[in-house]
Amino acid sequence: MESFSSWALIVMASLAALAFLSKLFPFKFHQLKFPPGPKPWPIIGNLNLKGSHPPKSLHILAQKYGPIMQLKFGSFPVVVASSAEMAKEFLKTHDHVFASRPKSAAGKYLSYNHHNITWAPAGPYWRQGRKIFLSELFNTKRLESYQYIRVEEMRAFLSRLCTLSGKPVVLKDHLFRFTLSSMSRIILSKKYVSDESKHETSIVRPEEFQEMIEELFLLNGVFNIGDWIPWLNFLDLQGYVKRMKALKKKFDLFLDHVFNEHKKKMEGVKDFVPMDMVDILLQLANDPNIDVKLTYDGIKALTQDLLAGGVDTSVTIMEWAMAELLKQPPLIKKATEELDRVIGREKWVEEKDIPELPYIEAIVKETMRKHPVAGLLVPHLALEDCDVVGYKIQKGTRVFINTWSIGRDPSLWDAPEEFCPDRFLGKAIDVKGQNFELLPFGSGRRMCPGYNHGLKVVSTTLANMLHGFYCKLPDNMNCEDLSMDEIYGFATALKFPLIAVMEPRLPLHLY
Ligand code: HEM
Repeated sequence: MESFSSWALIVMASLAALAFLSKLFPFKFHQLKFPPGPKPWPIIGNLNLKGSHPPKSLHILAQKYGPIMQLKFGSFPVVVASSAEMAKEFLKTHDHVFASRPKSAAGKYLSYNHHNITWAPAGPYWRQGRKIFLSELFNTKRLESYQYIRVEEMRAFLSRLCTLSGKPVVLKDHLFRFTLSSMSRIILSKKYVSDESKHETSIVRPEEFQEMIEELFLLNGVFNIGDWIPWLNFLDLQGYVKRMKALKKKFDLFLDHVFNEHKKKMEGVKDFVPMDMVDILLQLANDPNIDVKLTYDGIKALTQDLLAGGVDTSVTIMEWAMAELLKQPPLIKKATEELDRVIGREKWVEEKDIPELPYIEAIVKETMRKHPVAGLLVPHLALEDCDVVGYKIQKGTRVFINTWSIGRDPSLWDAPEEFCPDRFLGKAIDVKGQNFELLPFGSGRRMCPGYNHGLKVVSTTLANMLHGFYCKLPDNMNCEDLSMDEIYGFATALKFPLIAVMEPRLPLHLY
């Protein structure tokens, strides 16, 4: 007892001495080391190492340098976090420091000079935008109120697939048309996109709009040399800026048309009741009490953010899920057994049924683990100097969270290259930013505000495709022929679009 108390005294005295010394000689940030990483070349830094699939190339580099590494891309320091612990450091412990975004050509030309939410720097404008999205669109009541739109559009999608029964279909095109129609109705009240040229409110054909959104996603995700080596910007070496400007013109035309229609509808109406998100945004633009003034360009940027954010992401996940399942037909059997048992063959799956379908939920999580839509999330930016696990991260550093790599970490996942939904059964891992080993929507201040909507759409649509159809590959193709090659972009998609044959499984009167 005596010896214990003398040890306790020594420990306390040492701690007091340490506290005193640290006051006398405060620890200096500049004494810290940078995270380990490869030596940069002049001018290009380590841009030569990013490859055509940056999450994969950075994953390989992290095997050598560790879960936190520093590189230099052109003129800027870049830090990559490749483990769940490191992701937590940036997105939770020091979230407030890393909650901004770097400036980019995509932010400038495709987001009305960083006036959407995705590319807005941290600050009052961005906070206000997120608040508008969360309170006007993504709160539980609003999400419920738009459920009928999701249901109607999904039924139309399932009926279209039924009419194509037995024929090979490019699944992505149909998924795209369905998600775009429901997002357009929620945000703009109408589809505005139609096959029929006589349809007076449509100004774009579906395939044209699909191309616009795909181009938007691609250009938002590219490594534009001018962003990294600013003095080369004027050369537009890859031609991306030219494409961005051309795309901006197309979106401008579309959004001007939509807004003019909305404004006409509001003109002279006393106590106008907003019917959709554009009405709400237009009203807010005239609101003298709003914290940060919303400009016309700002409204365009926010509208485009919603249209784009809600479409390509969900389509990409659903296409990946179907491709993985078609490669392993026993998994489809397991899913349909669950659907038959819980839902039965006389009705479609509804959003409220999803918590009763753990295997469907497991398929969605496994797809998001193996094929995170944003393999590096969207770049975060250090607003100030910060000490992260004893390493020096300087203000202005671009931070990538490599979710593609975290999803393949063998210390977290057995046989990570295998697609195995069963790994999630009975596990309390969710996708809502609390479990850092699975971050399909990010986490913290910059986490996806639309995750609830996205999850509903992906889970219910996937469940209904499996419930409503016998899904197989075209006759001339077997499982081994199905390529799982990825094409990197803002959304990392299948390189070769999935072609499937769908035949009805439920009584025909349901379609
Ligand atoms: C399954 C579908 C979806 C996935 C996988 C997804 C994924 C993501 C990811 C990874 C981020 C970046 C997080 C970060 O930087 O740390 C993000 C941000 C964002 N997402 Fe989503 N998203 C989905 C659906 C949606 C929907 C439906 C909308 C809106 C209609 C939306 C709007 C946004 C916006 C505006 C941001 C930027 C947030 C900010 O910078 O503050 N997303 N999303």
